[in-house]
Formats: sequence, C-alpha cells, structure tokens
Amino acid sequence: MNDTRGDAPGNNGSRCPIAGNGEKILPGHEKRIDLLEHSAGLCLNGSAEKSLEESAREAWRQSVRCIGRLHWQSLHVIDARSADHVDEIFDACVEHLRKATNSGQVTPTQTVFRAWEGPEREIRIWNSQLIRYAGYQLPNGTVLGDPAQVKITELALALGWKAPSEPGAFDVLPLIVQVGKELVVRDLPRSEILEVQIEHPEHAWLSQLQLKWHAVPALADMILATGNDTFGCAPFNGWYMGTEIGARNFGDQKRYNLLPVVAERMGLATSRSSLWKDHALLVLNEAVLHSFEKQGVRLVSHHQASKEFMTFCAREENAGRKVHADWSWIVPPVSGSTMEVFHHYYELATELPNLLQQKPAWETERGRNLLSRYV
Ligand code: ARG
Repeated sequence: MNDTRGDAPGNNGSRCPIAGNGEKILPGHEKRIDLLEHSAGLCLNGSAEKSLEESAREAWRQSVRCIGRLHWQSLHVIDARSADHVDEIFDACVEHLRKATNSGQVTPTQTVFRAWEGPEREIRIWNSQLIRYAGYQLPNGTVLGDPAQVKITELALALGWKAPSEPGAFDVLPLIVQVGKELVVRDLPRSEILEVQIEHPEHAWLSQLQLKWHAVPALADMILATGNDTFGCAPFNGWYMGTEIGARNFGDQKRYNLLPVVAERMGLATSRSSLWKDHALLVLNEAVLHSFEKQGVRLVSHHQASKEFMTFCAREENAGRKVHADWSWIVPPVSGSTMEVFHHYYELATELPNLLQQKPAWETERGRNLLSRYV
C-alpha cells in the first residue's frame, strides 16, 4: 500500500503532516520523521498547555503499538531540559538507567531533554536503545551478536569505539551522543547494566548456550511530540514482556536465530514438519520468564500483558476515551489466539501527545555531514 499522506502538507493548509480538519490523526505510524522537515507540523494550534509529566504520560497512553499501557500513570518523568553539553546528556542517560533498573524492580521512566529548536543545538542519541548488544559483520557473511545492530556497531567503531579484545555475542554498545555538531562515543558503566543469565527450569543444557539479556528496554531515538513541543531526545522505558526476548530477539531469523540451535539440543526432528519451531520457541520463552523471575527482575508474560491491556481498554472507555491500537503490534508473537487481545479489533489513529519514530540520524543529510567530520 502506498500511503504518502505523511509526506504531504495537511489539507488544512498548514505544514502539518497530521491530517487536517482539526482531526489529530497521523497517518503512518511507520513513518520515520525528520524534525528538520516536520517539527512545525507536529505542533497543534490550540493544544492545551500541560505539564511535561502529564504530556509524557499521555504520549504513552496513546502509543498504538504498546500492550503495556495500563501502567501509563506510573511513568516517572525526569526533566533534563536544562542539560546542554554532551557530558550532561550522557550522565543523565546513566542516571536514567540507574533509576529505571531500580535493582530489578524496573520502573517506567522517561528522561526529557531540550525540545527541538532547529538543527544547531539538536540533541540526539543515535542508538535505538540505551542498552543494545553489538552486531559484528564477519567476513564469512555471518554476524556475531545482534544482526539488528550491525549499522550502529560500525558507526561506533568508525567513531573510535574499542570493541572488547575478544568480541562476543553480547557486548554492550557504547552510546553515540550528539549535541549540534558534537558527536561522542561513550561506554556505559558496567555497574549500571543489569543483565539476566538465561536458564531453563528443566533443560539444564540451555544455560550452556550462555544466553543473557538486559533488564531494561529503553528506547532512545523516538520523538516525544506533545502538540506544543517536539523532543527529539527523550529516552523512555517500561519493563520487558517475555516474548520480546524469547520469541523475537532470540527467535527471529534476522536476530539471534536460535530456534535451530535449541531444536538440535532438544533432539527435535526438523524434517517432517515445521512444528519443531513452536517447540523450540516455547522452551526459549519458558527460559526467559523463569530466569527473570528467578533473578528478581521485573517482566510480564504475554498472557498477563494481554489481560492488562483489556483492563486498560475498559478503563479508557470508562473515562470516555477511545483506545487506538495497532493490532499487529498488540497481539503477542506467540500463542496469539489464546489471548483476549487477539479477538478484538482496534481503530488505528495517532493522536498527540505521542511517541513517534524518528529517521535515523545517519540517514539525514546533516547527520551524514556531521559523520564525515569525524570518520
Ligand atoms: N522489543 C524491544 C526489545 O526487545 C523493546 C521495545 C519496548 N518494549 C517494552 N517492553 N517497553 O528490546
């Protein structure tokens, strides 16, 4: 489907990429926004002036892809709008991780840096999340680590990051922080990164795979658009739902691709049908849930998250608000039809405040120019 509405000026005559007629609807959630082109359009005339905390919480409440929205009012908002230098921004990210990790009692947290005022003093974190594992492209065409992070790993290396002398599958990437024309690469302190070693309650061999995952999923490159301001740097986190790790990060062919490895250890016949994948997937997901629970790190199962989402929908309805949601993101990647969320349809529309996808910095002209000064 070719939907270019997000590129066109709004039909209310403004430069707003939001559909006109006063309706606050952003057409493409998949659209990656460049604030240089669209920041003005993301500001709605007549948006109520709300506190930063209120706006940030509402942005979460209206995030169409998030199943965890029941907890929107618990978001802890850190106002870092006065941070100006790369050092302050890096330190605030470290502080974010410390508070969000909360010794395993993961706390939904958002740190908001200065709003977009133009490219001169633009603040950005180039990484997609505060914590991600490096992906090293090997000469034989395979990837060591997380294939989704190959690009950012290459950028970090080009900017002078020293990878561990023996690269591994779970090397935490440094942060790439930009303020205006300054771009730095900094290693996060190991002490602030809580990780969970993955084991299985019955399959003892699983721990031999030496899998682990970090406790906090902290998205670092999305835009917080309140209707009054746009924040190009406002990292935020919730806690994990098990399947994000057990199904997608570990199971996807384009990620760690572990289903064949697990199936082999389990001695599953892989030639007759493809259901060996379902078996392996289940074991991986059991292992993730078991390990996080055992190690005292907060996460939610997909079944529990589905129940909570239905509670969220009911509460929103009681409050007289319509829930917008993207079915294909809300329904968990395993056992879909066993959960109530599967059996509902949702209207899809983006209202402000919201969290929007941003065009990666290295794909913008100013980002490429900046990079060329450093590498
Ligand atoms: N799916 C992403 C990951 O595996 C995280 C996205 C946000 N997830 C969350 N539970 N808040 O890292």
